[in-house]
Amino acid sequence: MQIDIRRTTTPRTLPQGPLGFGKHFTDHVFRMDYGGPQGHGWHSPRIEPYGPLPVDPAASVLHYGQTIFEGLKAFKGQDGRVQLFRPDRHAQRFADSARRLCMPVLEPADFVQAVRSLVSVERAWVPAVEGGALYVRPILFGTEAFLGVRPATQYTFYVILSPVGAYYANGFNPVRIWCERQHIRAAPGGLGSAKTAANYVASMAAAESARARGYDQVLWLDAIEHRYLEEVGTMNVFAVFDDEVATPALGDTVLPGVTRETVLQLLKARGLRATERKVSVEELRQAHAKGTLREVFGTGTAAVVSPVGVLGTDEGELVIGGGKAGPLALGLFDEITKIQRGVTEDRWGWTLAVD
Ligand SMILES: Cc1ncc(COP(=O)(O)O)c(C=O)c1O
Repeated sequence: MQIDIRRTTTPRTLPQGPLGFGKHFTDHVFRMDYGGPQGHGWHSPRIEPYGPLPVDPAASVLHYGQTIFEGLKAFKGQDGRVQLFRPDRHAQRFADSARRLCMPVLEPADFVQAVRSLVSVERAWVPAVEGGALYVRPILFGTEAFLGVRPATQYTFYVILSPVGAYYANGFNPVRIWCERQHIRAAPGGLGSAKTAANYVASMAAAESARARGYDQVLWLDAIEHRYLEEVGTMNVFAVFDDEVATPALGDTVLPGVTRETVLQLLKARGLRATERKVSVEELRQAHAKGTLREVFGTGTAAVVSPVGVLGTDEGELVIGGGKAGPLALGLFDEITKIQRGVTEDRWGWTLAVD
């Protein structure tokens, strides 16, 4: 892919003070189009100044939601080198999401080249602060102006970058989660395993009511029986028992998290029994009563590992691990973040240097 680069003539100053998440954006975007009057298939890959995108009011994304996205991070190591974490796995998931939503597939190698080239142009924006990262947000959406319900023939792919601060700026705080039995995030045969906007808007009402009850996030259960764990907030979920670490098996209702895959590999490398299977709320309750439920934690790109301190249900609250972050969650967080920042050697081939 030959990428045209047009640099801004008005570069902004780098943000000062706490970065937060998704509030600041860098000077440039990567952009590539599919179909339309300017060409067939994928065409015109370019890096250009950040700015508003003109979108036709009839664009299919606005009416029928043909849109997918990804979220990954670039890190600055102690030696100043910048590296991406598992961009190939995000590229693969982006391709899988595109197929599910009847959108054109971007070759994973092109996805990785687009991300790597943009991060290279914006390398000065990768925060050097401990725990900080440059969050990479690729997105693809249908732009064809046509109101019939069918896949669009024109699309725009772009990548934006946002410098983000440490997720645990105020310490490793366990979250309180509400076990949601009314709303569902995804149903069998639906869109749950694709990273698409519909899944996120579907989650908002339950997340708002959980917040109103004093919880941070929702524990999503299966759509049929409302018994089995699926995800926690926008993370995959793990339960640590005395003799096993279990996470819900993948299927079409669970997003196949890259961090989930990473954690499973690390658990197996530690010689732990890591299983992918059905885990019910009742099983958690019984293990909690017996004292064999050690930890529950979520995994995702934003937090890496997020311990669950309290599980709220209609029948009362379970306080897990004394409401504190458990040793496995802490150990995995430490191990993964050290690989991401190049502190420990990446024997897995998970990182990709940005030139
Ligand atoms: C719904 C959902 N589940 C799980 C995850 C975790 O996925 P990953 O580890 O690839 O960030 C995310 C975040 O991307 C998500 O949005």
